[in-house]
Amino acid sequence: MIQLKKINKIYEDGFHALKDIDLTFEEGKINVLIGPSGCGKTTTMKLLNRLIDYTNGELTIDGKRISDINPIDLRRQMGYVIQSIGLFPHMTIYDNVAAVPKLLKWDKQKVNKKVDELLKMVDLDPEVYKKRYPNELSGGQQQRIGVIRALAAEPKIILMDEPFSALDPISREQLQDELVKLQEDINKTIVFVTHDMDEAIKIADQIILMRDGQVVQKGTPHQLLTSPANAFVEEFIGSDRLEQARGLPPMTAFVDEAFPYAKIDQSVEDVITLMVEHKKDQLPVVDEADKYLGIISLYRAVRATDKTVQDLLNEDIIAYRRSAEVEKFVASKDTIAPIVEADDTFIGVLDQDVLLESLHEKFDAKSGVKS
Ligand SMILES: Nc1ncnc2c1ncn2[C@@H]1O[C@H](COP(=O)(O)OP(=O)(O)O)[C@@H](O)[C@H]1O
Ligand SMILES: [Mg+2]
Repeated sequence: MIQLKKINKIYEDGFHALKDIDLTFEEGKINVLIGPSGCGKTTTMKLLNRLIDYTNGELTIDGKRISDINPIDLRRQMGYVIQSIGLFPHMTIYDNVAAVPKLLKWDKQKVNKKVDELLKMVDLDPEVYKKRYPNELSGGQQQRIGVIRALAAEPKIILMDEPFSALDPISREQLQDELVKLQEDINKTIVFVTHDMDEAIKIADQIILMRDGQVVQKGTPHQLLTSPANAFVEEFIGSDRLEQARGLPPMTAFVDEAFPYAKIDQSVEDVITLMVEHKKDQLPVVDEADKYLGIISLYRAVRATDKTVQDLLNEDIIAYRRSAEVEKFVASKDTIAPIVEADDTFIGVLDQDVLLESLHEKFDAKSGVKS
């Protein structure tokens, strides 16, 4: 855990860049610093690896004062990714990623293994990319290398200063998705600077909104969206996003955990009986460990009672996490959405009819208050 207490930074020219900052960067979480240009995001981040020293206050990492930690050791414990990728142009991708592990004198086999593993984590085939040079990669691929290079020495903390802001919108969204996915595996303490609210909402566990060297509000994306602290926060988030957030909570708000489901080894006749009993025309199917497999529909089942549930399984209906946005489901053509845990364990179902009904009620309630 990284803790800042009453941190002030006054630059040599007298500019008061940070004013009494109180903050905790939570362990194993993506902490996003956001705010208008010049509000002090980069200054805050640079305090963490001692590229800048603060003027007064207290900054601790796991209870240890940062001023008592040698800057070189400190930086080796932290990965750092910046906007202008900063890959070494005359070194191969392998040498770029391996740079810090080599400095730390890891043995060659361990380094090789690590580089391969990291390249695979971002979907780049090691055999193809290891020997290439940075300018032989696209911008998005180069930035992926920037990210995995920061992970190579297995740091506990990763600092990312607008790492994706120079990329085209599509690569940017891809890298955001990958970072969120990656974080589920690596669970690092990430401090991420951005000025893009969509990016913050998408990736953050905690958002810290700054203005003029002060923290205006901190909380989960949902907290900021649903209870902005003041007009500045509202304006920074934007009325479209606020309106959307009020209208559509995440999937979890609508999920029916009592929705019936079939087991893969049941007979088709039993499954038909189950559907008839519950007046359903489709059911999710799970395996022995309750992991979601797909959907079976009444329409197909009644015409093929000699088949197995496996034969009739429709695997094209994708499952959603609890936190998924309702919009994604609404935009799909599916009529039910299976909801699962991160390991695919089945939780329940969100039914499009139920969703629409809830939304109508919400809408009525809202307009009722207004009138
Ligand atoms: N070395 C410096 N000397 C004086 N002022 C600085 C220095 N570095 C940054 N600043 C000022 O501090 C403020 C915060 O900068 P910074 O943390 O880089 O903002 P941002 O939120 O855009 O990352 C800005 O007004 C900037 O001009
Ligand atoms: Mg900055």
